Amino acid sequence: MEVPSRLVLAPMAGVSVQAFRRQGRRFGAGLVCSEMVSCAGIEHGNERTLGYLRVGADEHPLAIQIFGSEPRVMADAAKLVAAAGADIVDINFGCPVRKVTKTGAGATLLEQPDRAAAIVDAVARAVDIPVSVKMRRGLENGSRMCLEVGPRLVAAGAQSLTLHPRSARQMYTGEADHTLTAELVDLVDVPVIASGDITSRARAQAVLATTGAAAVMVGRAAQGNPWVLREILEGDANEPSREEVVAELVLFMRETVRELGERRATGFLKKFYGWFLGRGRFPRPFKQELVCLGTTADVEAHLFETVPGARFVLARIEQEQPKVDEVLLEDMPISIYGGG
Ligand SMILES: Cc1cc2nc3c(=O)[nH]c(=O)nc-3n(C[C@H](O)[C@H](O)[C@H](O)COP(=O)(O)O)c2cc1C
Repeated sequence: MEVPSRLVLAPMAGVSVQAFRRQGRRFGAGLVCSEMVSCAGIEHGNERTLGYLRVGADEHPLAIQIFGSEPRVMADAAKLVAAAGADIVDINFGCPVRKVTKTGAGATLLEQPDRAAAIVDAVARAVDIPVSVKMRRGLENGSRMCLEVGPRLVAAGAQSLTLHPRSARQMYTGEADHTLTAELVDLVDVPVIASGDITSRARAQAVLATTGAAAVMVGRAAQGNPWVLREILEGDANEPSREEVVAELVLFMRETVRELGERRATGFLKKFYGWFLGRGRFPRPFKQELVCLGTTADVEAHLFETVPGARFVLARIEQEQPKVDEVLLEDMPISIYGGG
């Protein structure tokens, strides 16, 4: 499998919908990822969970990430991920959220190397596509468990590792300690992807140079801000025009409505208004006006009223977009609206 750039778009729960991944790809991400998908949800045929397995023909290469604690259930979920058309199945050993860790999944597995290795082994045996793992440094502050567990996961069949070198306890506070990334690179002979606080080309270059990582992963900096990907790849630090920002937001909204349905999309999109229109691009009250509107059609109309030229930019982007048919899986209860 070929990954066209050393820039990976991070998996983010509540963020990494198809529109986010497609947009990231257009702005240069070489690999995009789904948000974490519950293997228990897959096992039980939960329609909303299965909706996460929808893969557009223009999304490759794409990693779909699964989380869980039982090797057999994870292996079965991985088979479905592969059947859905993912290029990589990624395993989550990093989620710090209590709802996930209390089930024995996510970052907890860094304290259980035997079970973690058994999961990777079962998944690697179950599928023909590459298996990767994304992890934190460990559970507790200062933990170095990732260095102990990482090589074992590679021995068990992981073909790449992504490290977000914060502890689970840290959540998103403090800084990602990429000296650990450098140590991990020295310990394993598979590509290591560096995740955490990559917000600019300068930072990306520094992390690549000091760690020997194969690629950097960008998460929060790309929320409502695909332009950061272009800046990182090409050094183009020009701020987007208001027309460009609104055109990208409207396209994002339309695709999200198609994927989630109007009702779910209305709530889901609210945080994106702030992310796209903030960063000094529009006055603060403008976002507030949008959040108060009832439908995405009303939001779109208000955006175009405020920035009429955005229509022309949107028409141009749409013209340049590859036309692809949705890939829908037969025999899977995935509605065209992704599980309403
Ligand atoms: C809202 C949010 C949701 C996230 N969800 C996931 C997830 O589903 N799976 C995962 O492996 N990491 C998840 N992460 C972690 C990111 O992938 C990334 O490792 C982390 O945010 C550090 O990178 P950043 O500083 O570029 O944001 C999430 C992060 C955020 C902010």
